[in-house]
Amino acid sequence: MSNCKVITISNQKGGVGKTTTTLNLGAGLALQGKRVLLIDADPQGDLTTSLGYTNNDDLSITLANKLVNIMNDEHSGALDGILHHKEGFDLLPSNIELSSVEMSLFNALSRESILKEYINSIKYNYDYVLIDNMPSLGILTLNSLVAADSVIIPVQAQYLPTKGMTQLLSTINKVRRSLNPDLKIDGLLMTLVDGRTNLSRNTIMEIHRAYGGVINVFRATIPVGVRAAETSAVGESIFSYDKNCNVAKAYAELSKEVVNLGSKERSEFQFGTAR
Ligand SMILES: Nc1ncnc2c1ncn2[C@@H]1O[C@H](COP(=O)(O)OP(=O)(O)OP(=O)(O)O)[C@@H](O)[C@H]1O
Ligand SMILES: [Mg+2]
Repeated sequence: MSNCKVITISNQKGGVGKTTTTLNLGAGLALQGKRVLLIDADPQGDLTTSLGYTNNDDLSITLANKLVNIMNDEHSGALDGILHHKEGFDLLPSNIELSSVEMSLFNALSRESILKEYINSIKYNYDYVLIDNMPSLGILTLNSLVAADSVIIPVQAQYLPTKGMTQLLSTINKVRRSLNPDLKIDGLLMTLVDGRTNLSRNTIMEIHRAYGGVINVFRATIPVGVRAAETSAVGESIFSYDKNCNVAKAYAELSKEVVNLGSKERSEFQFGTAR
């Protein structure tokens, strides 16, 4: 059995920090010695360009090719085209081609499980696979939820995500009832927190009040920081760009929480199998 954990970073609301979290959580896990693969499942390719692959339209192998191969029942060369970032983690990149593949997914057999089938063929090489998603609850995001062991939901601290959160949680429940009964929610992650404003503080309190009893809310919260916004232009994580800034400290704390969640689950599993 593989010890790899597949985590999807999902929220259909745009601009809540999904890509920034995928990148920096991935880099934080790599700094802890974990073998990490990031998958860019957004046709906008923001994760790919944020990591320095700015001419992503020129990449010959992307996630789109991998999904097409699975749909055509071709399983060779699964690791081809995976990029090795200088900070010690890997990236399966994307570009706009993914949006045409999204269309062909609709006609595929087991159309919600294509990404899962691909990830199953490569996960033995990694401790963590993190998937960055587009801001929608469409077929690509559904594929991520089916492929994942767990979900991290970034929530922007300036807005109470009432309707959006209900939709997302109901989609997660539907996936659990049908295609992925073991899917867990690792937690809600408060992002773009401006500690000086009442708005941020009140939103965090409301999130704890509304969801804290049933869903983990990460102790780490990600502050707004100009350094975080600058990293995508240099193709680096926040750790390599400015490891002493508050955003780097917050993502380091999040990485530790995520590793601790994983080890808890593993020891529960071992305990469960030992009996
Ligand atoms: N902690 C932060 N401090 C300041 N700016 C941030 C921070 N995190 C993210 N940003 C900026 O906010 C914007 C949105 O972040 P990001 O792209 O990670 O969100 P997203 O949820 O992936 O968006 P989309 O839904 O469009 O994919 C980006 O310009 C990013 O650089
Ligand atoms: Mg994004």
